[in-house]
Order: sequence, then C-alpha cells, then structure tokens
Amino acid sequence: MALARFFRSCEEISPRLLTRDREIIAPLCSDWTRRVAGGAAALVRPSTEEELAAVVEAAVQADVQLHLQGGNTSLVAGATPFGDSVLLSTARLRSIADPDLPSLSITAEAGATAAEVNAALAPRHLKLGVDLASRESATIGGMVATNAGGIHVVRYGSMRTQLLGIRLVTPAHGAIGRLSPLYKDNTGPDLAAIAAGSEGLLGVVASAAIKAVPILEHSVVALLSFPSFAAVAEAARRIRLSPVVSALEFMTAPGMDLVSRHLGRSLPLVGEVFLLVEFESAFQLLDHVAEVLEDVAPATSALAFDARGKAELWRWREAHTEAIARAGIAHKMDVSLPITDLVEFVEWIEGAFAADHRSLDAYLFGHLGDGNVHVNLIGAEPGDLGPDEAVLAKAASMGGSISAEHGIGRIKAPLVHLVRTPSEIAALYALKDAFDPGGILNPGVLLPSPRGGHAIANAAPGRLA
Ligand code: MLT
Ligand code: ZN
Repeated sequence: MALARFFRSCEEISPRLLTRDREIIAPLCSDWTRRVAGGAAALVRPSTEEELAAVVEAAVQADVQLHLQGGNTSLVAGATPFGDSVLLSTARLRSIADPDLPSLSITAEAGATAAEVNAALAPRHLKLGVDLASRESATIGGMVATNAGGIHVVRYGSMRTQLLGIRLVTPAHGAIGRLSPLYKDNTGPDLAAIAAGSEGLLGVVASAAIKAVPILEHSVVALLSFPSFAAVAEAARRIRLSPVVSALEFMTAPGMDLVSRHLGRSLPLVGEVFLLVEFESAFQLLDHVAEVLEDVAPATSALAFDARGKAELWRWREAHTEAIARAGIAHKMDVSLPITDLVEFVEWIEGAFAADHRSLDAYLFGHLGDGNVHVNLIGAEPGDLGPDEAVLAKAASMGGSISAEHGIGRIKAPLVHLVRTPSEIAALYALKDAFDPGGILNPGVLLPSPRGGHAIANAAPGRLA
C-alpha cells in the first residue's frame, strides 16, 4: 500500500523519475566490497533539487524508507539498499557551476563526481582539497555525507573543512541551507558541518559550495622503504614537519606483493614497510626534498618529478584497494589512532591479533600523516563480525576511532557503542528525530535502526537481513 502510494506520487512528480527495472536496480544493490548485498523495490533518480524535495516529501507522506546512493563506492555498506525499500540515487543531479574565482570555490550538485569537479576547476589552475583513489566514481553528496578524507587530509583537511555552504533536503523541514560563498558565517550552528559525516541520516545533500585550492607548479613524489613500521613512523614524524607535504601514505610488504601481482609489475623497491610522500609547492623543491630525505635516511628510495613517473609511483599505493578486492572479499577496518600509538597498534595487529586469527590474511596500508590505518582482512566469512569487532575494539581501547574516513555504514552500526557513550548515542537519535522524525532516511546506517534489526551480525553471509 505504502509503496503503491509512493509510486503514484513519483509518477505525478515526473514520469521518468522512478524505475522498477531489475536489470538497472540489481547492480546498485551490492556494497563495493561485495561483502553484503541487498535489494530495492524501485529506484528513483531526481534531476533537480525540486524533484528531490518532492520525492522526500512523497516518501514522508507514504511512510516509505529511502536508501541514499551517490557513486556506490561505500566500503561499509553505507549505500546498500535492502528489503522492500526505495533506492534514491543522486546520479542525475550533476550540474557544476563555473568556479567562483574571487572566493576560490565551486558549487556542484550531489551527483557530480570528484573528477568532474576537478575537471571544471583545472582550467583555472584550481582543484579540490580532498582527493581520493575513487575520484572517478565518488560523488560530492557521498563525500559530504561521509566527511571523506583521502590522500591530502594532512595538508588540506577532510571534506567538512572544505564546505562553505550546503543545500540539504530534510524530511522534517524540506530543502534548507544556502550556497553563498561566505568564508565566515556564525549565525548559529553550521548546517554544512552538521551534515558532513551524518551519512544521510539527517537529509539528502542536494548541492554544496566547496573551497578550491591552487594547483601548485612544483611537486615531487617519493617512494621510500624502511625495515619496520617503527622506522616508518619515526620517518613520518620528521616528514610531517615539512610545510610542503601534501600526502604521507604507508604500505606494507604483503600489500605491495599483492599489488605487484595485480599490476603484473615487479616491485620498484625492496623493503618491509613503505612510505609514499608527495611534496607540493609554488616554489622549487629539490633542495628541500633532498634535505628531508637525508634526514629520514630510507633504506631505498625512488623519486618522480614528471607526471608519468608520479602516477606510476602513486599506482603502488592506490591500486591496493582493487588488488585486495581481487584477492577476496575483504573485511575493511578504517581506524585512526593517536599518532603516538600507531606503532603499538600495528605491532598488535601483526603480533597478538595475527596469532589469534591464523586463517586470515591481513593487508595494512593508509594515511600515516593522519594516523589512519586501513586494516584489510581476507579469509573471514562475510557475515562474521568477530574479527572486525576485535580490531575496532582494540583501536577504541587505545583512544582511536572505528571510522577515520569510510563512515560507519550498515556494517559497523552495531559497534558504534565502542566509541560513543549511551548518552552520546541518545543525542544522535534526538538529532535524527529533529530532521527525520519518521526515520525514513537510510535506516540501519550509522545507528542501529529503531525500526528493525538490520545489523550484518544477524545476516546470512553476504546478505543483509
Ligand atoms: C584508500 O585509502 O585507498 C581508500 O580509503 C580505500 C580503501 O581503504 O580501500
Ligand atoms: Zn583511505
């Protein structure tokens, strides 16, 4: 009944808004990792903010749940629909305004990808401060909703800090917010900051005004090898003092071997733990980079100065995700630790945790400059939350976070209590209630849904309940 009513409303809004075509819907119903798969009764794809607002209002009236999806690059089932619900895709909300040069910003609709926005900025020698390996698919809406991080947080911060304004379509208050490019606006709490990282619980991002940063003329990429993670951490501590570092990433030998097989290339360096460092500046960098490298004294190193060489070195880092996915269905744990505790955490994973989980292969890499470690485990049943909980509980017990940049999604929703007190969770539910009192947006994402247990812990392997 509810769905039939919603379908009728959508037909009235626009005849091309909704489809029930299984062939179109089915490919959108799996998490990128393939760890969980769901389903949806229908797919709606609004083309304008007005259509988006009308769809959300129709869902409120019919009491139909909407699962939100941008580029479907979530690694925590944050965009995987399930059950008799409706998948709301922002794929047709794609327009990008001309860059606003006086304010060094750009406004884009939610479905525009990071790569498309960068293409619009490039002729003005500008780019987004946030960049990530999934740039061709990741959308602005998803990047806001998850407070995306990526490879340049060490220099520019995460998505939340790039936002100048937002338009958010909420179930309780309709379309709210503004896109004016004000750098300062202290008229109460900042809606864009509240929406960033809320994982679609409060509203659907329609568009955002985002800061841009200059493309710097001089850059050098260095791949360095070290004998241990402790040595890498010490090198990273020193490199971080450089004011021109724009990426400080680490990889370990097992992941590099996997990438080597995946790409069919031999390793450029021998070593146990690797750092990939990018230096960027408006000024000539060679002397500075030479000084930094002399200070950290890597065992071996490879440097790249031209676009092709830099892309080749970056490939060793960015191909980790696809190489791991090819090796199996990964349990992906995205933790952050106080920088001083990183060595203890990594040594625990490679020592006590590995001894307790001998059947699992662990691949570690991440954004060392941000204290962000991606722990990828292959070999566990998709529905088994045990290894996830062990790793996340350890990070939490050390004062870390169980989601540095991927979000909580559906996979980690049952584990939020590891890092949030009952009072904090109650406050989050109250915030949800203020924006979405009927609980129609993204049920089961970030917070266990009061309308039903959809935790992966209760699900058959590879499927959501
Ligand atoms: C990355 O850093 O490459 C992304 O967070 C994706 C991943 O963790 O696999
Ligand atoms: Zn990452």
